[in-house]
Amino acid sequence: MEKLTGQAIIVTGGASGIGKETALKLTARGAAVVIADFNEEGANQVVTEIEATGGKAASYKVDVANGDEIKALIDWTVEKFGTFNGIFNNAGIGLVKPFLEMDPETYHKVIDVDQHSVYYGLYYGAKKMVELGVKGTIVNTASIYGSLAAVGSFNYNAAKAAVVMMSKSAALELAEHNIRVVGVAPGFIDTPIIGDDVETKKFLAEQHMRGELIQPEKIASVVSFLFSEDASAINGQTLPVDDGFLSFKIK
Ligand code: NAI
Repeated sequence: MEKLTGQAIIVTGGASGIGKETALKLTARGAAVVIADFNEEGANQVVTEIEATGGKAASYKVDVANGDEIKALIDWTVEKFGTFNGIFNNAGIGLVKPFLEMDPETYHKVIDVDQHSVYYGLYYGAKKMVELGVKGTIVNTASIYGSLAAVGSFNYNAAKAAVVMMSKSAALELAEHNIRVVGVAPGFIDTPIIGDDVETKKFLAEQHMRGELIQPEKIASVVSFLFSEDASAINGQTLPVDDGFLSFKIK
C-alpha cells in the first residue's frame, strides 16, 4: 500500500483499541503519529511500542471534549513534526442508561466526548490545514449505532448519528480546500469499551455474520486505507465495517 512518509497524523483515543491499532498501521506506512488521549500512561506505552518497530510517534495528553485542548494539540503537532496532514477523531465513551434515567449529566457527557470532540477536530483541524496549504484527510469514528437505535443508548445514538452527518456536511465545504472527510462505522469490536462480561460479549458476537466480535486491527486497516490517496474517491461517506451487522435482523 502507498506510503504515508512525510505526513503527520493525529489519532485521538490512540492509547487503546481501534485508535492504538490504527496508530500502529499508520506509522508502519511511514506517517508520524501523535497519540492523543487522556490516558497518558497508555499513550506513552503505544509510543514505546511504535518506536520499537522503527516508527515515529509522540504522545499528547488531551481531553477531546475541550475545544481549546484540541486546538493546542494541533498547534503542538505542527511544532513537533513540522506539518499536519490528518486527524482521526476517534476517542469515545459509552454511558448506557434507560431513556427515563437519561439525566442531563449522562446525556451531555457522551455528547461532549463523542460528538463535540469531532466538531473540534474538524473545525480546528481543517483551519490549520488551510492555513498550512496542505492536502488533508479527516476520518471520524461513528458506529452502527449512528443509524440503528439501541436500548439504553439515546445519548450514544444521538452523538454517532451526528458524526455521520458532520462528516458529510464538512466534506461538502472542505473539498475545494483539498480536504477529504470520511467516517467509519464499526460493528462490535473487541476492545475495553464493550466491557468484559463473557455472556454479553457472546451475545454481541452473535449479532455479526461470522458470529465473532471484530478485532480492532480490522477497523485500523480500513482507516489506514481511508487516509491514503487510494481512497481519494471516498468523500463524505461513513463506511460500515460491521461484518454484516446492519444487513440482517434475524440470522
Ligand atoms: P477503547 O475504550 O479501547 O478506546 C477509547 C480511547 O479513548 C481510550 O484510550 C480512552 O482513554 C480515550 N478517551 C475516552 N474519552 C476521552 C477523552 N475525553 N479525551 C481523550 N481521550 C479519551 O474503545 P474503542 O472501541 O477503541 O473506541 C474507539 C471509538 O470507536 C469510540 O469512538 C467508540 O465509540 C467507537 N466504537 C467502538 C465500538 C466497539 O464495539 N468497540 C463500536 C462502534 C464504535
